[in-house]
Amino acid sequence: MSKLCVIGTGYVGLVTGTCFADLGNTVTCLDVDENRISKLLNGIMPIYEPGLQQLVDQNVKAGRLVFTTDYKKAVSDAEIAFIAVGTPSGVDGEADLQYVRQAAESIADLVGSNIIVVNKSTVPVGTGDWVAEVIQKRRNGRPLELHVVSNPEFLREGSAINDFMQSDRVVLGSENRPAAEKVAELYSPLRCPILITDLRTAEMIKYASNAFLATRISFINEIANICEELGADVKVVAQGMGLDKRIGSAFLDAGLGWGGSCFPKDVKALAHMAVLHGTHPQLLQAVMEINRNQRRRLVYKLRKAIGGLNDKTIGILGISFKPNTDDIREAPALEVIHLLQNEGAKIQAYDPQAMENANQVLKKVKLCENPYQVAEGADALILVTDWNEFKQLDFSRVKELMKRPVIMDGRNLWDEESLRKLGFEYFGVGRGN
Ligand SMILES: NC(=O)c1ccc[n+]([C@@H]2O[C@H](COP(=O)([O-])OP(=O)(O)OC[C@H]3O[C@@H](n4cnc5c(N)ncnc54)[C@H](O)[C@@H]3O)[C@@H](O)[C@H]2O)c1
Repeated sequence: MSKLCVIGTGYVGLVTGTCFADLGNTVTCLDVDENRISKLLNGIMPIYEPGLQQLVDQNVKAGRLVFTTDYKKAVSDAEIAFIAVGTPSGVDGEADLQYVRQAAESIADLVGSNIIVVNKSTVPVGTGDWVAEVIQKRRNGRPLELHVVSNPEFLREGSAINDFMQSDRVVLGSENRPAAEKVAELYSPLRCPILITDLRTAEMIKYASNAFLATRISFINEIANICEELGADVKVVAQGMGLDKRIGSAFLDAGLGWGGSCFPKDVKALAHMAVLHGTHPQLLQAVMEINRNQRRRLVYKLRKAIGGLNDKTIGILGISFKPNTDDIREAPALEVIHLLQNEGAKIQAYDPQAMENANQVLKKVKLCENPYQVAEGADALILVTDWNEFKQLDFSRVKELMKRPVIMDGRNLWDEESLRKLGFEYFGVGRGN
């Protein structure tokens, strides 16, 4: 069993560290955010992720998982250090590598004479080489046997533990095969396919995967808009397409588009990389443009349906960027709320897990305690995030509470016919019939 250190204790780092501990390794999870580490030391999860609390508790109790802000404690005797810090969008759409650099420099300062550094953060192609350079330069001649391995992360928030434990694949890239094989050993209990490749190819696999998934969603959203105008039903169109084994049904749900902490910044960063290196990423540009338009189109449809938005009260169901997470980074709800407020609408909103995060960024929004409070006095209700909790609302009660029974179902979650029967004006996405 190995001694590991995981730098960055966010959605990726905390899940990765905890799962590796659960597989029997000794793991130190480090973060520079003292508040986050203090919460973890007190058994409080800093993020909402199903199943995480229990797994953390078990592994802390077993003495395999510890949390610290002390780099020396974390790094000095680690055999393998995972970097899992954020790589947000920079001003020009590029991935901002300042946190990766800080982590690399801290490793350089405190590590003994050898280490494998594994990059789990999503980073531009070429970053693995750059990290090696940053570390060696910082050593200033102090000898270090260093190997960098790229190990892009594919977990999804909301099902992160399951995604880790039952990975479709693990990708490892390195210029040093034994280093990649050493990291592969950590994953061997998972019995999933492990692809070992060179550094740059591994880094590109991550961007290409996210860009492809985002493309599928933008594709079906474009089809949805055409369906709406031509009288076809995109839900059935997607079902019909998905039955073709060459196509498959995943990521073909029309709606308000993709958001979150990964797709938006990763598609942008890939397009940025492409332009920087002299290619013209026109498909990626279109994928982003279609995504932006989905939110605008919803607002356009709503404006038309209720005769202007000024002074109207609009209820928003769901703020997190997708169900089963409290993450609101680049959430479609934020953009929809911004567009509506711009036109003078008053917003009341509810989310099962993201209220604390929402409270920090949403201005002039009435944050409600449940879906029924959102419906109260509303001129329209918009479903933005398809949480299970919203699947079976008491719609008779909702109708009674609303000022005007208009529903914009941004995720095609509800049954159109039964809502119409109850007297709602219902608008889905791409339901042309
Ligand atoms: N969130 C996801 O679903 C997901 C999935 C796959 C890949 N990724 C990638 O993984 C990386 C991390 O994403 P995340 O969502 O976990 O981010 P996050 O923002 O939730 O967590 C990052 C953590 O790193 C810490 N940090 C920043 N600088 C540090 C430093 N110098 N030393 C130690 N800690 C530091 C921050 O305090 C924060 O707690 C990103 O590159 C992201 O693109 C994320």
